[in-house]
Amino acid sequence: MNPVTMRALLDDWENRGLLYRIKKEVDPLYELGAIINTKNGKQPFLFEKVKGYQSQMAAGLGGDRELLADSIGIPSSELIPKIIDSIVNPIPTTLKESGPVQENLVTGDFDLADLFPIPTYHVEDSGAYYVSGILIVKDITGQKRYTSIRRMQYLGGNRTNILITSPELMEQYSYFERLGQPMEIAVMFGVVPAVVLSSQISTHLYHTDKLNVAGALLGQSLDVVRCKTVDLDVLAEAEIVFEGHMLPHEREMEGPFGELAGYYGTQSPQPVVEISAVTYRNQAINQTIFPSSYEERLPMALVREATLLSTVRQVVPNITGVHIPMGGVARYHAVIQIKKKSEGDGKQAALAAFASDKDLKHVVVVNDDVNIFDSDDVEWAVATRVQASEDIFIVPGAKGSPLESSHNLRGVTDKMGVDATYPLGKEELFRRTSIPIDINLADYL
Ligand SMILES: Cc1cc2nc3c(=O)[nH]c(=O)nc-3n(C[C@H](O)[C@H](O)[C@H](O)COP(=O)(O)O)c2cc1C
Repeated sequence: MNPVTMRALLDDWENRGLLYRIKKEVDPLYELGAIINTKNGKQPFLFEKVKGYQSQMAAGLGGDRELLADSIGIPSSELIPKIIDSIVNPIPTTLKESGPVQENLVTGDFDLADLFPIPTYHVEDSGAYYVSGILIVKDITGQKRYTSIRRMQYLGGNRTNILITSPELMEQYSYFERLGQPMEIAVMFGVVPAVVLSSQISTHLYHTDKLNVAGALLGQSLDVVRCKTVDLDVLAEAEIVFEGHMLPHEREMEGPFGELAGYYGTQSPQPVVEISAVTYRNQAINQTIFPSSYEERLPMALVREATLLSTVRQVVPNITGVHIPMGGVARYHAVIQIKKKSEGDGKQAALAAFASDKDLKHVVVVNDDVNIFDSDDVEWAVATRVQASEDIFIVPGAKGSPLESSHNLRGVTDKMGVDATYPLGKEELFRRTSIPIDINLADYL
């Protein structure tokens, strides 16, 4: 059975020698992040002592493809089909009277900084930030619930602000703001990678309950409990929950902050959040994600791969795999693997990819003898199978992503498709070298 709680997952990985336990005290001001960053978010860490606090802090749980799949109990080759299946067949949560996350309750006059550490990551960040909290809201009708991650800058006392770039959530907040009403929110910390992964599913595309999708990823219904001060349900086994409201007509300056693409974002006024209650488990383990690390990028890339596979398959049925690499900031580059059946399949696959995701800039299509997860192998295919005058096409001035600096120079983005498949009927010329036996190196050492 896969662990459905973060502490069970940490135990499991520690027993299997996969967890780095840091016993030395670390400072939440830069030092904690610097340690996580040595492994680029791919290595699970548990920090025993964070300076000034009693609680432990976990990080790096969902940045490695193999480990993320392991946390769901499947091999990484099954991740994308599993995500697609979980969106189609979610498992509803189960409402409980009580749960571990409500073992402790803080209300009244409190300062968030007195409760749990709030790390500062980059030299030019405007302050201390919560980066990994899973935000839960209901839609305007109150019928649907969904999760996402939004960074929250600590403003002092029980206040933060929150950065929202998705149109749905912003529209929702604007709706309440027009009514002059605060919007209820809850934020969960200390969850397994499946919950982070499912939070990245696009509401715009799927309008699905992402906690139910997380249940399907984990193969069981997840328990939830009703919050103490807002009408929202949170995971009963989360480590820490903030309950509160996004206030109408209140903005505070937010940023700069080291963002996804590895640059500092600009400063702008963003909505203010007031936290009305904090609940937490006994010996709560806090959690963070280093911004722009693999742990931030991989969940985004995986849900984009699931969408890409489904949509490109509609026009090129012989697609055998997709990869959205981390180096392309988990959204600007894609590698598509096809079993070529007719000339034109390669360019058609790239066109379908661009049509399915406005953020994509460069798409490479390869034959099914190329390992799309090995950038050397993809480069080898480009080097040995591409003639630029025939195999590359460029669409200038299309829509792009405002998170990308070169797009922001002109406000539009060029798209480049690279068909790195070889011509049909030329298999002999493009046959790879191989060795006729399998060996195990360990037998020779
Ligand atoms: C670690 C991490 C941090 C994120 N921070 C933000 C953020 O500060 N603001 C934001 O709008 N999106 C952020 N995102 C992306 C959103 O969570 C994501 O686009 C959203 O959940 C998609 O769901 P939606 O369609 O329901 O908005 C972050 C994602 C991750 C994995």
